Amino acid sequence: MPDICCIGIATGGGDAPGLNAVIRAATKSAILKYKWKVIGIPGGFDGLIWPEKSFELTLDAVSGILPRGGTILGTTNRGNPFCYKTEEGGKEVVRDISDQVIAHTRQLGIDAIITIGGDGSQKIGHELFQKGMPIVGVPKTIDNDLSATEQTFGFDTAIHTVTDAIDKIHTTAASHHRVIVVEVMGRDCGWIALTAGIAGGAHVILIPEIPFTIKGICDSIAAREREGKHFTIVVVAEGIKLPHELRQMARGWPVGNTIGDAIGLFSQKEVRVSVLGHIQRGGSPSPYDRVLATRFGVAAVDLVAQGGFGKMVALRAGSIVSVNVADAIGRLNTVDPKGELVPAARAIGIGFGD
Ligand code: F6P
Repeated sequence: MPDICCIGIATGGGDAPGLNAVIRAATKSAILKYKWKVIGIPGGFDGLIWPEKSFELTLDAVSGILPRGGTILGTTNRGNPFCYKTEEGGKEVVRDISDQVIAHTRQLGIDAIITIGGDGSQKIGHELFQKGMPIVGVPKTIDNDLSATEQTFGFDTAIHTVTDAIDKIHTTAASHHRVIVVEVMGRDCGWIALTAGIAGGAHVILIPEIPFTIKGICDSIAAREREGKHFTIVVVAEGIKLPHELRQMARGWPVGNTIGDAIGLFSQKEVRVSVLGHIQRGGSPSPYDRVLATRFGVAAVDLVAQGGFGKMVALRAGSIVSVNVADAIGRLNTVDPKGELVPAARAIGIGFGD
């Protein structure tokens, strides 16, 4: 068992509701169960460039943060000590400052670091682990696209936010007989669009995993018109791959605008586009996310105590387990079009534009 007196906690990548719940749980359990000192590293691994900015996380410091969105430590989805960008003489220079980061960790008296982050942050953590830094990971992303864990915290809150938005969009779409395209997050996979789309009663769902055509979408709209339903809600994951016919008219980001333009053109319906954006990442975590985040935080501290470095906590078959970060990174958990959820959606008449 390693001799631990002090641990550091860092949050990296885009924020997700529940980050503070992990910080609180890890801090409380480190102090109450193991009597360790806890240091908060601000702004992800970048925080270790300026060790003087790190601060002690006491029981008082984490009091009241459970329901708060964001992260009290701050985060960045750009920082990477292996290719750190600075400006020297008016030019951008990329440097490997990982040795400096490791030296600063030792200078702070930190014996191990818990890094809470998505795939990118876990990759950086793993590279630092390979250079001798004792690191334990906690998986995070609202997109729920990490294959090592059945669910990431933040996802449940995000789908509540999106479902609530679709419920609201329903009434205005129905009143105006419009098609409303709702663009949601999901850079590489369609979990938010699919899950919240079903929960919100969407009529068409477009996800990166299922190729679609504009005709496919318009056929669904026309079928609803024939049934006397003069409005349609189309939920679009931001990471969809545009079909060839739409690439010429693509307006860039957000992709929902291109889908909206195309539907307007081909269906002659009045279309509006609503891009939900970062409200999906903000706000107070749901009870489910608070509990999952708490379980992850406590388990990460236990993993440090057991010397389980280079590992990450994960949810498998309802239990918290640990997995090797090396096996977990770079493998996405994408929607299986033949899995249970897509056929269930199709069975109730939801179209996928294919
Ligand atoms: O990775 C989570 C995510 O929410 C993606 O769905 C989205 O593309 C991305 O973050 C946006 O991140 P940012 O605006 O912080 O660069």
